[in-house]
Amino acid sequence: MGIIKKFYITKFKKDRPKIELKNISLSFNKRQILDNISLTIREGEICGLLGPNGVGKSTIFNIIIGILKPDFGEIFIDKINVTHLPIYERAKRFNVSVVPQNGGVFSDLTCFQNLTAIADLVIKEKKERIFKIQKLIAKFELDAVKNIKAKYLSGGQRKRVCIAMALLSNPKVVLMDEPFQGLDLMSTSYLQETIVNLQTEDINRCCIISDHAARDLLKISDRALILANKKIIAQGAPKDLVKDQNARNFYFGDAFNIN
Ligand SMILES: Nc1ncnc2c1ncn2[C@@H]1O[C@H](COP(=O)(O)OP(=O)(O)O)[C@@H](O)[C@H]1O
Ligand SMILES: [Mg+2]
Repeated sequence: MGIIKKFYITKFKKDRPKIELKNISLSFNKRQILDNISLTIREGEICGLLGPNGVGKSTIFNIIIGILKPDFGEIFIDKINVTHLPIYERAKRFNVSVVPQNGGVFSDLTCFQNLTAIADLVIKEKKERIFKIQKLIAKFELDAVKNIKAKYLSGGQRKRVCIAMALLSNPKVVLMDEPFQGLDLMSTSYLQETIVNLQTEDINRCCIISDHAARDLLKISDRALILANKKIIAQGAPKDLVKDQNARNFYFGDAFNIN
């Protein structure tokens, strides 16, 4: 702990809620997935969303961005009720970007073409577009592979292209759905550093990151929430969360520690 992340936000100066879910319930074909869930993600924090496979993490992301409508409950961004706003309006007005669990790139376009496709949509000025693409290619060390089609990139490289694409619009909220999935150890720590740098670069930016395995995510989270049995069963700073009895009973197990 603490090698990658140099500071943890434990007390929030402004403590401004960025994203709030209030009393959200959702069922698929009469099978309830989320039962009266309420949560707040604050401006500037890296918030981990943990929980076993199939518990509803991606579903929560989809509810935040507007792909799914809950059966009950409301969604607020910057204290504005966005429950009935369409996907594009939430993305544009509140500057929300997503790095999806799978895909997220056009497989038959090169790394450079992928970035250009998104830049054309989100950056008006041509000069700025070119500058931003070049900056992100350098930042994510993609120069050597910029002319390679996305389908031939390694998992870690593809993830970096996806994240670079998500950053073109200079987002205030970045949602990453299981970004560590399938990455080797080096790529994992590189990605952890990248995520921590997103926070350092813009202290108002909030990142919400899901994972089914706790260790990689807790290393970089200011706070994490645990989803189990349709509910948020525990939440808090990583060091407190690992001691939480509910979290240990329903998610971590007794042998878990983060050292
Ligand atoms: N469109 C859908 N129709 C029916 N069931 C779904 C649908 N999407 C997700 N589910 C189910 O909802 C549960 C939660 O899925 P998901 O949010 O993808 O879990 P997680 O991301 O935590 O692994 C799973 O049991 C999944 O099978
Ligand atoms: Mg998922």
